[in-house]
This record gives sequence, structure tokens and C-alpha cells, in this order.
Amino acid sequence: MEIKTEIAARVEQIETIIRQYLPMEEGYQKTIFEAMNYSILAGGKRLRPMLMQETYRLFGGKSKVIEPFMAAMEMIHTYSLVHDDLPAMDNDEYRRGKKTTHAVYGEAMGILAGDALLNYAFETATKAFELEPDNIRIGKALRVLATKAGVYGMVGGQVVDVESEQDAAMTKEKLDFIYELKTGALIEASMLIGAILAGATKNEQKVIEDVAKEVGLAFQIQDDILDVTSTLEVLGKPIGSDEKNHKITYVTYEGIEKSKADVVRLSESAVAHMDSLVVQNEFLRELILYLIAREK
Ligand code: IPE
Ligand code: IPE
Ligand code: MG
Ligand code: MG
Ligand code: MG
Repeated sequence: MEIKTEIAARVEQIETIIRQYLPMEEGYQKTIFEAMNYSILAGGKRLRPMLMQETYRLFGGKSKVIEPFMAAMEMIHTYSLVHDDLPAMDNDEYRRGKKTTHAVYGEAMGILAGDALLNYAFETATKAFELEPDNIRIGKALRVLATKAGVYGMVGGQVVDVESEQDAAMTKEKLDFIYELKTGALIEASMLIGAILAGATKNEQKVIEDVAKEVGLAFQIQDDILDVTSTLEVLGKPIGSDEKNHKITYVTYEGIEKSKADVVRLSESAVAHMDSLVVQNEFLRELILYLIAREK
């Protein structure tokens, strides 16, 4: 089967899992449920739950305990996008081919929908205890989810990203720091949680974290490239957002050719690292390589 078809089939399965954990749209606070469901059901590649599930499979995981974590990860990722698009942040009007959450529900609801998704992610992840009350790996996975989403992870990266607009003193080291945190951290959390829940050893977890770090960096560089080379129709979000916000990106810092070469280099290195493990998942391998030429 072609990788694209295999990805599409998995996205469908992931959507089914995510839907099971979404709130009902009812009660006096109905608007917040609508805004949450609007942003999370708008589409998206579902890459993070996919990486989580495939890493879980890589280490032999077979239980449904991974599912609340897959949904939770997509909730945290979606919240990060809802807030990233706010007027005070990147101020963007389109996301996943639709109007952004704040554009539809207003800025206050945009902020609250992000808050709600973040909190709901933990309400959802802790449901893993209902499935396996005595599984101590769940606590470890929760800790990773919390840490990588926070000030030592995604939020921390967004802080430096916002503060670094038009930064004349930008260095490669600082740029890598921003990318590793704002984008890498959630990808690392996704793969690490898959590994932890499947019972991977400490050493295997370390390898997976390194693999994910490279995948995350490559993913954000490709995102920067597409911000310059793609179209709103293909990408589902506005192009030129980085230039509008005077962002220093890999593309402005290193040039487009070097950026493209780095995406290839990092992705191939990630796969090579993964190949050093005794366990194997051919789909996961192909997925990482497929991302090199992704167009959205
Ligand atoms: C967008 O992530 C934000 C970045 C970290 C680059 P995705 O490109 O995974 O967005 P969706 O989930 O497919 O919409
Ligand atoms: C944001 O990076 C990464 C997040 C943590 C949301 P970008 O600002 O480049 O993401 P897009 O291009 O808006 O998806
Ligand atoms: Mg941003
Ligand atoms: Mg943005
Ligand atoms: Mg971008």
C-alpha cells in the first residue's frame, strides 16, 4: 500500500479515537464546547497522535491505554495553535483550511477555548487510569505530557519565539532552542509517551527522545519553508505569516536551500537513530521520511 493511503487510513482511526473524548455541546457554557470542538475537528494531519501510536506499536504496545493520551496530545497541540493564531501572537485568520477559532468565536472565547483544551487534555489523559488503575507507567506518561507542554517545553519555546521578533542578535543556537521547544517538545512527548506506555527501557526512551528531537526540528524547518513557498489553499493557513510578524526563521537565517538540505539531513539522521534499535516499525520509518517532502 502507498504510504499516503496508509496515512489516510490511520488518520481516520485517530479521528474516531479523538471524537470519543470530545465534550457534549450542552449547558450554559455550551459556547466553549462548540469552540473546542470547532478547533479540534477542523482537520489537521494528526501527526502527534500518529507518532505516539506508532512508537507504542514499535515497542510492542497493544492496549487501549494509549488512546486517551493520543486524544490528549491532539488537544494540547490544538490549544497551542488556537493561542498561536490570536491577535496578540501571530494574528492569523485561517487554520486547517477554516477561519481561526478567535475569528469565529471572538478573542475572549479563543483564549478560553485554548485554556479549555489544555485542561481537558489532562482530564482526558487521566481517564487512562479507568482503563488500567494499577498501571504505574500512566503516571510517568502524565509527567512527560505536563513537562513537555509547559515552560520547559512548548510554552517556553513560544515565549522566546515572541520575544525574538526582529532580534538582530539571533544566533543559530537560540534558533535551535526555540524550535526544539516550541515544536520539538510536543513531538518528543508524543513519541516518548508511546515508548513509556509500551514499556521501553530507559535506554530505548533516550533513543526515541533523540529521534523525536530531530523529527521536530525538521518539521518546524519544513513549516518555515512552506510559509514561504506554499499557498493558503494547499496549506490551510496563511502563507507569509512569519514575514508579517518579522520572525527570524530558518529560511531567513540560513536560506532556503540550506533549510531544505537540513530537513533531509535531520530526517535521515532520525531514521538512522531509530534503525539502531532492535525493534522496528516500517510504517513509522516511512512516515518520518515522507514528512521531508510534505506539502502541508
Ligand atoms: C503546526 O503543526 C504548528 C507547528 C508546530 C509547525 P501541524 O503542521 O502539525 O498542524 P496540523 O495539526 O496539521 O494542523
Ligand atoms: C508555532 O510555530 C508552533 C506552536 C507551538 C503553535 P508557527 O507559528 O510557525 O506555527 P504555524 O505556522 O502558525 O502553524
Ligand atoms: Mg507562532
Ligand atoms: Mg503561527
Ligand atoms: Mg509557521
